[in-house]
Amino acid sequence: MKTDTKNKILELKKQKNAIILAHYYAPAEIQSIADYVGDSFYLAKIAKSSNADAIVFCGVAFMGESAKILNPTKKVLMPDLSADCPMAHMVKKGKIEEMRNKYDDLAVVCYINSTTELKCQSDVCVTSSNAVKIVKALPNKNIFFIPDKNLGRYVAEQVPEKNIILNDGYCPIHAKISLSQVEKQKMLHPSALVLTHPECEQEILSVSDFIGSTAEIIDFAKKSNHEEFIICTEDGVEFKLLLDNPTKKFFFPETRPCCVDMKLNTLDKLLHVLETEENAIDIEEETAKKAIMPLNKMLELAK
Ligand code: 13P
Ligand code: SF4
Repeated sequence: MKTDTKNKILELKKQKNAIILAHYYAPAEIQSIADYVGDSFYLAKIAKSSNADAIVFCGVAFMGESAKILNPTKKVLMPDLSADCPMAHMVKKGKIEEMRNKYDDLAVVCYINSTTELKCQSDVCVTSSNAVKIVKALPNKNIFFIPDKNLGRYVAEQVPEKNIILNDGYCPIHAKISLSQVEKQKMLHPSALVLTHPECEQEILSVSDFIGSTAEIIDFAKKSNHEEFIICTEDGVEFKLLLDNPTKKFFFPETRPCCVDMKLNTLDKLLHVLETEENAIDIEEETAKKAIMPLNKMLELAK
């Protein structure tokens, strides 16, 4: 049944000149069939430069929307339109305006995990793999970092010369990773290195050996001569970690971090959107024109 579905997807993809993009948190069955699998930054760059007629984005809403904004003439389809990132909405109405009124030289730095509406009000977007570099490169002293307080706090530590104002948003999946569960894994596997996503709380970052985006965690594990790792991010990364390192051992906190929205992507839904071309992302032209500015600025500053 699965093989049948996979074959149909591959056939339709060819017929329609479509490509499949998947985030590392998407289910293994999706990652194994995708043309490109990566972190948010890599996938945004692929979406922008793609010559395919259609992009099927297996991720969450802000990813499909960013792809559409960056490459507006392409059809961007998502297997499940309800797959959303709760953190993307976590900025209180009026907060950006309030901050702009307070500081003359304010730059609003917007994590790509945000709604299109928030991007329209921002100066530059960042992802977890380029946030430090981009904030350092900005001429502004005062930075309002939205929506993620954890990534914002991590950036603030790395760029102490700036005044980084934090917002109250957070990723509910990474925030649930508890210190006691990480400590327990460290006790069980004393030689393991702790690799952590910056969306985690400070107490997790402070016991970590490496902090980086999903792609950076995967790259670190591959290059490391250590054999055991405790992984503090969503468990979808396990697929690529094991693919790259079949003899190494990867441990997750006992309550495995799992993003239910990412897991809404299934092979059956992927096939369905390829067949029907339903679930196309549609962004109003004026909105897209505003939202592309911070995304393009990110691509320029991250070079
Ligand atoms: P990265 O893949 O950019 O590290 O992002 C993590 C994430 O939470 C995406 O939703
Ligand atoms: Fe959003 Fe967290 Fe899921 Fe990433 S893991 S999509 S930040 S809820």
